[in-house]
Amino acid sequence: MTSLNNILDKACKTHDLEKEEIVELLNSDGKELYKRADEVRKEYVGDGVHLRGLIEFSNICKQQCKYCGLRSPNNDVKRYRLEPDEVIKYAKKGADLGYKTLVLQSGEDSYFDVDKMCYIVSEIKKNDVAVTLSIGERTREEYKAMREAGADRYLIRIETSDKDLYKKMHPNMSYDNRVRCLKDIKELGYEVGTGCLVGLPGQSVESLSGDILFFKDIGADMVGVGPFIPHPKTPLKSELNPKNFDMALKIMAITRLILPYDNIPATTAMETINPNGRMIALQSGANVVMPNILDSEYKLKYEIYPGKICLNDRGEKCRGCIEAKINSIGRYVAKDKGFRKHKANSDKD
Ligand code: 5AD
Ligand code: FES
Repeated sequence: MTSLNNILDKACKTHDLEKEEIVELLNSDGKELYKRADEVRKEYVGDGVHLRGLIEFSNICKQQCKYCGLRSPNNDVKRYRLEPDEVIKYAKKGADLGYKTLVLQSGEDSYFDVDKMCYIVSEIKKNDVAVTLSIGERTREEYKAMREAGADRYLIRIETSDKDLYKKMHPNMSYDNRVRCLKDIKELGYEVGTGCLVGLPGQSVESLSGDILFFKDIGADMVGVGPFIPHPKTPLKSELNPKNFDMALKIMAITRLILPYDNIPATTAMETINPNGRMIALQSGANVVMPNILDSEYKLKYEIYPGKICLNDRGEKCRGCIEAKINSIGRYVAKDKGFRKHKANSDKD
């Protein structure tokens, strides 16, 4: 117990931990950790919660990640893609609903080449919003062009920093290329978002501690951590582990201690396996929520994992619903674009 408190004191003070110390926190029940992460969140990023309007504009994906329901071999998925002008229309709707950031996410769909993406980004930037892209692995030149078209941030989770596990989970993909993408994005001046899945078969607490150190190493501005949820049409369909929620929450809370200024979402996957998951996460270090703004027709088909929340609700409803929940825990929806706070402006919101 004392050793646990010593580690937490050190983390709150220096924002630096050794791998063994992280392992010890992961093996604890998490109660004290969540409390400290909530305090650090309040001190460094305040009580404002940033909402990011998520637009899942294509579920077509050429990859075969073992855990993902949208993997290309899954023929049961009804595939869809919005045309560029429809994406722009939804983004306008998001801006009108008050979202200050729009996140454009898709499978790895080559239909959206760099010209189409630059067109979409530059049109959306005519609204007063920040644009985040989450469209997978691209070349440095493509990242550069999209940045120049106005994209502010890029999300690409490392998924696992454990090279062997990465290889098993991602047929035909390369860990080194994943890292190359993150480095390019950083160098090109995007805000960098990464993160991991928690509860993959064969993933150890040591390997998860490595993920947290990886986030710091790569200079992440945003970190999304989600529990792995087995999808019935994937090779990992029978790998359900009820401990994934608590473990994901611990990884997220430690990430807050180590990267105190970062933007950290309460992920949809957390809410999927715990009815109050996002509010629990917001009280354990998170300061961001990413509601989906598409209509249910598309939401239903973007089935990365089963049981996703709010599938039958319209985008407008999710906006109101989430704000009420945020207020109910004594927090408020932030009005600014929510770039990562730095030391110098940590008191501004
Ligand atoms: N359970 C939870 N999260 C998943 N993702 C993909 N498949 C699953 C799953 N079965 C996550 C990945 C990806 C993000 C868009 O969704 O981490 O980066
Ligand atoms: Fe890779 Fe969906 S196929 S995350």
